[in-house]
Amino acid sequence: MIGLVFTIAAYLIGNLNFAYILVKFFKNEDVRNYGSGNAGTTNVLRVMGKNFALPVFILDALKGCLVVVVGRLLGLDAVYDGIFLALGGIAVVAGHNWPAFLQFRGGKGTATSLGVFLTLDWEVAIIAIMIGLIVLAIWKMVSLASMVGMTMLPVFTLLTGRNTTEIVFAFVLCFFSVFQHRKNIGRIIQGRESKLGQKVNIKK
Ligand code: G3P
Repeated sequence: MIGLVFTIAAYLIGNLNFAYILVKFFKNEDVRNYGSGNAGTTNVLRVMGKNFALPVFILDALKGCLVVVVGRLLGLDAVYDGIFLALGGIAVVAGHNWPAFLQFRGGKGTATSLGVFLTLDWEVAIIAIMIGLIVLAIWKMVSLASMVGMTMLPVFTLLTGRNTTEIVFAFVLCFFSVFQHRKNIGRIIQGRESKLGQKVNIKK
């Protein structure tokens, strides 16, 4: 029962999409009407600049951390091989990507997944982040860096012999990420993907 309540609560926490909330609050605009249409850090950086993007990234990551911390405090890491903790992690990212309170149009889950995985298994998360940052430095595409970084989660959980729950969990987060980036993949293939630093004007 506690596991079910925890998973539902995690989904609802995921619904707190800070890209949407901050742009709505400070500009009274829906960030999803601008740039890539994504409610996430990169699009906020594109349309509002880094002073908005940084808090969005931190807050979206923190909600992922929060779910894992609360799950551990509830002792869920010790129940059924941590399945409910993993379900909570999946739920918070799902809530971010497909928020019921925002017509199921949210973000792509990179920051929130990062928050979840850093709290769950910081060693694997740091490797994924480092590889993602290298990709970003070379190709300047956040989408590509996000997908490559997210793909490193299942790869390194497998390579380092993490438990089955964590490996499956990492695969699910990776799948979510690639699925949410499907339009980016099309643009990358066509050479039309926007690069870090490109701006889009939002109504002042
Ligand atoms: O995490 C989102 C990022 O990877 C891509 O965002 O706005 O360029 O589609 P965007």
